[in-house]
Amino acid sequence: MQYEDLIVDVQGKVALIRLNRPKALNALNDRMMDELGDALRKFDADPAIGCIVLTGSERAFAAGADIAAMADYTYVDTYRDNYITRNWEHILRVRKPVIGAVAGYALGGGCELAMMCDFLIAADNAKFGQPEIKVGVTPGAGGTQRLPRTIGKSKAMDLLLTARTIDAAEAERIGLVSRVVPAEMLLEEAMTAAATIADMPTSVAMMIKDAVNRAFETTLTEGVNYERRLFQSAFGTPAQKEGMHAFLEKRLPKFDGL
Ligand code: CAA
Repeated sequence: MQYEDLIVDVQGKVALIRLNRPKALNALNDRMMDELGDALRKFDADPAIGCIVLTGSERAFAAGADIAAMADYTYVDTYRDNYITRNWEHILRVRKPVIGAVAGYALGGGCELAMMCDFLIAADNAKFGQPEIKVGVTPGAGGTQRLPRTIGKSKAMDLLLTARTIDAAEAERIGLVSRVVPAEMLLEEAMTAAATIADMPTSVAMMIKDAVNRAFETTLTEGVNYERRLFQSAFGTPAQKEGMHAFLEKRLPKFDGL
């Protein structure tokens, strides 16, 4: 796959997608987001892929939506033609696990895109924030909704209203990222985590992702019922037979293709 604003690579069962507009700190424009949607759709549909890693450069995961592209947009451009964020939610339709590997700036739309990943591994130079207010707009890709669900109302209001950025250590402390590693180790850490996931039965990894995401959309009782149905349906998968019998036979399970 050849793209203008992305670099894609496959290593074993892991697909790596790198946002690649380094001069603009990976500012997110329509073309890049179209390409991202295309790459995600193709990797999600590829049975040889078990996990996807989304990353940027050492300096920026993404410094937000492209301000140069949108500075002169009118309300009609953004509403009728749905410019800027029309194609951002492809990532939410990906059924396989997606790890965000964040170095440098993840600001505005960059932080929102990161929060659409299933979990985040950050370099120790990562900086997160929602500074949209400083350029006269609200967040437009879920910042006011996903941030409070992730880090709580008080922290979210603080970041959204003051536009301050937080470092990787604070992001880990408040649960925005799952791990922080030295910047030079970021990709290795993310690819190793992704390879671990890709070696699990993909069908079950997809069920777990589905169930966790359901937690944010429904009541606890309904979510637990949903999980129970998935648990029961797992008994219809070859992965369950292989996993449990391998345990009892004291051997490693073989989940290839499951
Ligand atoms: N859009 C377009 N270009 C951007 C950009 C953005 N969001 N962020 C950085 N760039 C460009 C700069 O214009 C600059 O380009 P030139 O070299 O051609 O001048 C280049 O990237 C490097 O940036 P700086 O010179 O500013 O680098 P710095 O190290 O001094 O500062 C920064 C880095 C703090 C990230 C600063 O660039 C910055 O504040 N960027 C804007 C962050 C922001 O406001 N993001 C929110 C955008 S709105 C949004 O995202 C809406 C939404 O929710 C969907």
